[in-house]
Amino acid sequence: MVKQNWLKKGFVDEPIDESVDLKKEIDRLRKEKNAVILAHYYQSGEIQDIADYVGDSLALAQWAAKTDADIIVLCGVHFMGETAKVICPEKKVLVPDMNAGCSLADSCDAKEFEAFVKQHPGHTVISYVNTTAAVKAVTDVVVTSTNARQIVESFPEDTPIIFGPDRNLGNYINSITGREMLLWNGACHVHEQFSVQKILELKRQYPDALILAHPECKGAVVKLADVVGSTAALLKHAVNSNCKDFIVATESGILHEMQKQCPEKNFIPAPPEDSTCACNECNFMRLGTLEKLYNTLKYEWPSIEVDAEVAEKAVRPIRRMLEISAKLGL
Ligand code: 13P
Ligand code: SF4
Repeated sequence: MVKQNWLKKGFVDEPIDESVDLKKEIDRLRKEKNAVILAHYYQSGEIQDIADYVGDSLALAQWAAKTDADIIVLCGVHFMGETAKVICPEKKVLVPDMNAGCSLADSCDAKEFEAFVKQHPGHTVISYVNTTAAVKAVTDVVVTSTNARQIVESFPEDTPIIFGPDRNLGNYINSITGREMLLWNGACHVHEQFSVQKILELKRQYPDALILAHPECKGAVVKLADVVGSTAALLKHAVNSNCKDFIVATESGILHEMQKQCPEKNFIPAPPEDSTCACNECNFMRLGTLEKLYNTLKYEWPSIEVDAEVAEKAVRPIRRMLEISAKLGL
């Protein structure tokens, strides 16, 4: 039974006996319940290490679409769980802490976005995956940072396009494709925070370092970058590059997998603007802990629910993205 204080807190707030070996128990529970644990690269290292699959937003959606598990535990943020639930309405989709929101998704209210779409008839609506299901429901095709360029380019050049909600990703795609998509004015509070000055200081310290940046970063940071791409693309580039040093301008959780795959290379997190911290973490992503993951699997709560009518509309642009991505070999 779901307890009142769990409901209030948005996660299972149940003390765990010290004698419990969390990793062993998580492993036992996932097998017993036929559950799959999917984690985003921005989760803590210990969550990434225990997950069945670790990936970017596109990979998480692709794994959700093909798993035969009965339960999907999405170690990421709410919109990722919602996307998995929309793809697999028959499955139980658990997110260890319901407070794991996303400032970018929050920057796009569904009703306001719908009104914006109505104000611009005749436009194709392309939405970044970092949106609520209600925004996806008024979208023609969803994209992630891995496939945004190719999906935009799959439309004839003169197609009028609305792109939301990330203005930085939208501006970046406009600059590399020559399109003039109409942009929603949203942003991610983590990626907006990177400091150009601190990145330049690091570059002076490590003159041979390659600067890797996520396209959610503001334009001035993207301009400094040698490589711009999704978390998976940045990781791939780091693995294949002959360089030794990398300054990484995205949430610092990605450094865990980079370092794991390239132990001999040096990954330096790009620092945020107004903080003494050396790296930039997403407070929403970091709500995930092994304790919450264990309790979620044990009590099968909190689970994502999506209004059936919204889900029916939201699944179309998500499926369209998955189909185009499969055709493109992404
Ligand atoms: P990707 O991992 O798809 O690049 O997305 C980054 C992100 O901000 C997820 O919230
Ligand atoms: Fe959302 Fe930004 Fe956190 Fe990604 S890093 S989940 S876009 S708030």
